[in-house]
Amino acid sequence: MTSGQTPAVELRELTKRFGGVAANAGVNLRVKAGTIHGVIGENGAGKSTAMKLLYGMLRPDAGDILLGGTRCNWASPADAIARGIGMVHQHFMLAGPYSALDNILLGAEPVRRGVIDRPAARRKLEALAGQYGLSVDWDRPIEELPVGVQQRVEILKLLYRDARILILDEPTAVLTPQETASLFENLRKLRAEGKTILLVTHKLKDVMSFTDRVTVFRAGKVTGEVATAQTDPQELANLMVGRKVVLGLHVPPARPRPEPALEVAKLSLKGGAGSRHRLAEVSFAVRRREIVGIAGVEGNGQSELVQAILHPRESRCRTAGVVRVLGREVTSWAPRKIRELGVAVIPEDRLLEGLLPERPVRENFLLGLQRSRAFSVAGFIDSQRLSEAASVAVKEYDVRPPDLDLPAGKLSGGNQQKLIVAREFQRQPSLLIAAQPTRGVDVGAIEFIHQRIVAARDGGAGVLLVSSELDEVLTLSDRILVMYEGRVVAEFERGRVTERELGLKMGGA
Ligand SMILES: Nc1ncnc2c1ncn2[C@@H]1O[C@H](COP(=O)(O)OP(=O)(O)OP(=O)(O)O)[C@@H](O)[C@H]1O
Ligand SMILES: [Mg+2]
Repeated sequence: MTSGQTPAVELRELTKRFGGVAANAGVNLRVKAGTIHGVIGENGAGKSTAMKLLYGMLRPDAGDILLGGTRCNWASPADAIARGIGMVHQHFMLAGPYSALDNILLGAEPVRRGVIDRPAARRKLEALAGQYGLSVDWDRPIEELPVGVQQRVEILKLLYRDARILILDEPTAVLTPQETASLFENLRKLRAEGKTILLVTHKLKDVMSFTDRVTVFRAGKVTGEVATAQTDPQELANLMVGRKVVLGLHVPPARPRPEPALEVAKLSLKGGAGSRHRLAEVSFAVRRREIVGIAGVEGNGQSELVQAILHPRESRCRTAGVVRVLGREVTSWAPRKIRELGVAVIPEDRLLEGLLPERPVRENFLLGLQRSRAFSVAGFIDSQRLSEAASVAVKEYDVRPPDLDLPAGKLSGGNQQKLIVAREFQRQPSLLIAAQPTRGVDVGAIEFIHQRIVAARDGGAGVLLVSSELDEVLTLSDRILVMYEGRVVAEFERGRVTERELGLKMGGA
């Protein structure tokens, strides 16, 4: 930043501890008005903490927050909001059963003679939505709207409150490529109007395409700030991790064994609330020692496919067709019995299916392994052995902090994911089902998880990889199936398809 310009936002020596962890240990950050400023760094580096301090959700132990050169002292987010700051969180904070309109008005109701003036609020919102080309179905419960639309609602909520400084914490982690493109189009419009945007993300591609400058966090401190035009993804990755990271892993071709790990024949899914796309006669097989990638824009049946394989009996998934896991027909089996065949799962929604957020890391490491002979003796858990195994895994997978007593929900998003991956891989699975396995994890951890998936394959596992990240599917998959509107619409061998062709198939071309 050239000297003489007062930054729109400045953090000076911000410090925040949680127990023994210094989440921020003297963070310095300056953001120029009317720019998109990237904030990157490893999982647990302190990005969300710094943003929550700026937004008044947390109070600093030491250090200063300055807006336009003026020192601020927030008692709560209400103070920050009053000064024009808005934040969209890593996990959306929308209330599911309420309408989009109610969610926006919550806590910011316009009042006329003591009565909430909803028509006026609605007019203002519709004008805003029109101005930015963000269309929203205002009266539908928010949980029924696609994630991309929920994202829009979050942003409209900030604009409705006249935010001039917008903080977006990993906004694209759950968006489809199309939704991401439209989000960034809007951010550019906002920038053109002079708004200041802080964008926390792990996607170096997005950083390179859309930001003006970028600040790198590592271990609670800022380790660098660069102009985007003067850097490249490799340099950013190295700055984040503090060593050279391999971007774009080279995966040797598979040597599949003939016997299948998973066979799906004419799987169809009818009904089911909220499922926009059902499954229509999906058939494929995953052999041992092979990675089959399912590519597709989210919402085209991939979640339903995984659900139908792992929870075939669930009533809301009235399925037709047959699923065979490791040679056994499991169509009427209970989920636990299926997993005990040697199936590891990295679920799509880690907080809903993968972890018990209130329980300590140690117990989460045991989840699903309670009956495993490794940890139980005559029906009792051998807690000594469990602690040993958990602490080895936490080290090996670099879960930070390596504290077995910490409730899993207190780990940063990426570290929660590493914990799940550590637990699932130590089963030495014969079949691995990995749904969005690197969502929200940093570049170093992506490299690591990718290597582990390939190692599982080479160790004899069949791998079903479901991912909406094109790069990931292209790098890892020995075969790629494209799903569109509940059907498999294309199949490619490794190296036989370009990103562009795949994108077109994903769009239904
Ligand atoms: N409420 C809390 N209680 C205890 N520890 C916390 C709490 N919030 C954050 N931490 C810890 O502070 C550190 C920084 O976390 P933070 O969420 O800021 O990381 P991050 O950079 O946003 O990571 P990610 O990329 O994974 O989202 C982590 O070690 C985390 O476990
Ligand atoms: Mg975070």
